[in-house]
Amino acid sequence: MVTTLAAGDHPIGVTVNAFASLSLEPPLILISLARTTAHLRAYLENEQFAVNMLGEDQRNLSITFSSQNDNHFAGLDFATGESGCPVLGGCLANLECTRTTVHEGGDHFIVVGHVDRIHHADIGDPLIFFRGEYARIGDVV
Ligand SMILES: Cc1cc2nc3c(=O)[nH]c(=O)nc-3n(C[C@H](O)[C@H](O)[C@H](O)COP(=O)(O)O)c2cc1C
Repeated sequence: MVTTLAAGDHPIGVTVNAFASLSLEPPLILISLARTTAHLRAYLENEQFAVNMLGEDQRNLSITFSSQNDNHFAGLDFATGESGCPVLGGCLANLECTRTTVHEGGDHFIVVGHVDRIHHADIGDPLIFFRGEYARIGDVV
């Protein structure tokens, strides 16, 4: 789940599973956003964004932020990070990032971010999306 601020400091967020770690030094991650994403301009223009890594009990947040709705944050537990971006509670990790570059990638934009701050839980397993279904992480192979 990626959050940022749109015009007027309006918090916005979108469910994203196209996330990857990119570099350790400097610490960089990337996300990939469809050109059709609502508020795409805000994600491309606001230098600050946050990646909220959902735990296996946070399926509802994934569903909420993948729906077309302008009031995603109503009734949600979130804080405002140092970056000003919404940081959701109860996540496995929250990465506060500064956008470094944007690359075209077919019908998506690849947004690269420098990880400025990490907050993480000590325990918990991630929410998985596989074969079109939400799932728990499986056994170690
Ligand atoms: C599990 C899941 C993963 C998704 N991953 C991405 C993604 O990596 N990139 C993306 O642009 N949209 C992704 N989407 C779609 C968006 O979350 C969202 O549904 C779509 O952008 C429509 O909402 P909008 O009103 O923000 O445009 C994903 C949706 C789901 C349910």
